[in-house]
Amino acid sequence: MKKYTSKELREAWLNFYKSKGHVDIGAVSLIGDGTTGVMFNVAGMQPLMPYLLGEKHPQGTRLCNVQGCVRTIDIDSVGDESHCTFFEMMGNWSLGDYFKKEKTAWTFELLTEVFGLDKNKICSTVFEGNESAPRDEETAELLKGLGIRPENIFYLNKDNNWWELAGTTGTPCGPDNEWFYPLWDEKCSESCDINCSCNRFVEIGNDVYMQYEKLEDGYKPLKNKNVDTGFGFERMLMFLNGYKDVYKTDLFEPSVKYIEEQTGITYGENVEETKSIRIICDHMRTALMLIGDKNGIVPSNVGAGYILRRLLRRAIRHAKKINLDTSKLCSVVEIFIDKVYDKAYPLLLQKKDYIMSEIQKEVDKFNKTIETGTKEFDKLIAGINKKIAFMSSNNPNYVPTDSDKMITGKSAFRLYDTFGFPIEMTIEMASELGIAVDEEGFKKAFEEHQELARTTSAGAFKSGLGGDGEMETKYHTATHLLNAALKLVVGEKSHQMGSNITSERLRFDFACDHKMTEDELKKTSELVNSWIQKGLDVKCEEMKKEDAVASGAEHQFIDRYPDIVTVYSIGDVSKEICTGPHVKNTSELGTFVIKKEEASSSGVRRIKAILQ
Ligand code: ALA
Repeated sequence: MKKYTSKELREAWLNFYKSKGHVDIGAVSLIGDGTTGVMFNVAGMQPLMPYLLGEKHPQGTRLCNVQGCVRTIDIDSVGDESHCTFFEMMGNWSLGDYFKKEKTAWTFELLTEVFGLDKNKICSTVFEGNESAPRDEETAELLKGLGIRPENIFYLNKDNNWWELAGTTGTPCGPDNEWFYPLWDEKCSESCDINCSCNRFVEIGNDVYMQYEKLEDGYKPLKNKNVDTGFGFERMLMFLNGYKDVYKTDLFEPSVKYIEEQTGITYGENVEETKSIRIICDHMRTALMLIGDKNGIVPSNVGAGYILRRLLRRAIRHAKKINLDTSKLCSVVEIFIDKVYDKAYPLLLQKKDYIMSEIQKEVDKFNKTIETGTKEFDKLIAGINKKIAFMSSNNPNYVPTDSDKMITGKSAFRLYDTFGFPIEMTIEMASELGIAVDEEGFKKAFEEHQELARTTSAGAFKSGLGGDGEMETKYHTATHLLNAALKLVVGEKSHQMGSNITSERLRFDFACDHKMTEDELKKTSELVNSWIQKGLDVKCEEMKKEDAVASGAEHQFIDRYPDIVTVYSIGDVSKEICTGPHVKNTSELGTFVIKKEEASSSGVRRIKAILQ
């Protein structure tokens, strides 16, 4: 097997596919463009979705790239050897061009001739078939023809060998062919194969035969038979260099070493400390990529910005755990920019000062929060322990129940609301002490009291794909229309003061010095509905912040926006700086109905409205 540096591996991938007639299309922004309702780019195929569905791609039918992806769905697994929230995916595509014969041959050639894998050890899995698609005998036969041993080919079910973007419809999908290789030769038992739990085999990548469209209730064949290949860059780099830990690769080695030097900890010696080092490296790298992206974001309390905030705050907490001075977190980021991603992500170098200052700001802010929050947390724990000690002293047979060892929802909410202490942190810190948190109770308290903007709920953090369902997306666009209508009815001064969206309704706070009259309310909904009926296109553009402001785009917190912002325009009715997502055309919205108009605070009115 040939050893690779990260820089060489990117080159090797691209060069191989270029030699097979593919065009390197480069990578797109990590931040969702608002058209798919997805917060981050989660797969190399995501920006290619329209083309996999049949649209003509300007650069042809054979494409390749190395694409950054952010998946926060596995956040709780970060800290082990292989999970990362940011990773790169080495990809190549056939858009109705070649299919299984060429694809199996090329993957095989790349693995055996370029990377030097032993064909006798390669294992491959194919789809076993179900009511939607046939058993993939064709791929299995091709693999055998290439020299893969028949006993190393496995037929697996939809859970394993079918690839689709969970939770979506109208997206391309299909059966896939996955490639595996053993990390070592010795079997743990007679039956030890790719299905064994001993982790001898690693999945090194997959070729998806995208030939179906996912519908609400099934699948329909696509016009084109496409190929969508994805090989995990970090994983492959680890594997080719004989490591079992991605944090040993040259992507992480310099930052791990730096943290070792700063703390005196030896990576790999102590489980908990090693986990903290990994979490710091992973989260700081993702934060760097999100802030330094061409569509970069900054920490905030909503949407993608909230996820970024959570990542940074979790890294800060783990820094404290291993006594890494939090002022050194910026140095960790600097190492990634200067030593690891200087060639592949030159924009990071250009934006270096900006990135570091945004990170430092968040570190400073959170340090203050932690200080007060931890004191309050400790008081809560002391209270629980005191109660348990009291019960024990009264009753020698007393065994604390789960609810005795639980932080109530109200207390957790108070930590969050009054001290800005994230619920995830309360849960994590409590669990380290064997104490649970009443998460349901927290949610209830949250819903009752919290007046924050949309998607700030604890759950939003976990779902890389989440936060913005179909209805939320519609309400988001309806909010822009309402904002525009109010400007006409109440006057230019009626700017937005707050917004909150659920799948059931929108809520909009705006500056207004009087209770709106019946007539004003009627006019407002008539305007919104007339725009919906007109079927106005929603357009999304990226531009410099100054240009966006100069062009008259609505904005709320100009200081908090990145240098390059996304501007959504709806016909010529509305133009706002916003991260989306939005519908493509207002005709998707239905009928807009104002349910309530009330005071929010002095000089601020609140409208609640629904779409029917
Ligand atoms: N779309 C496939 C993946 O993400 C290649 O793994």
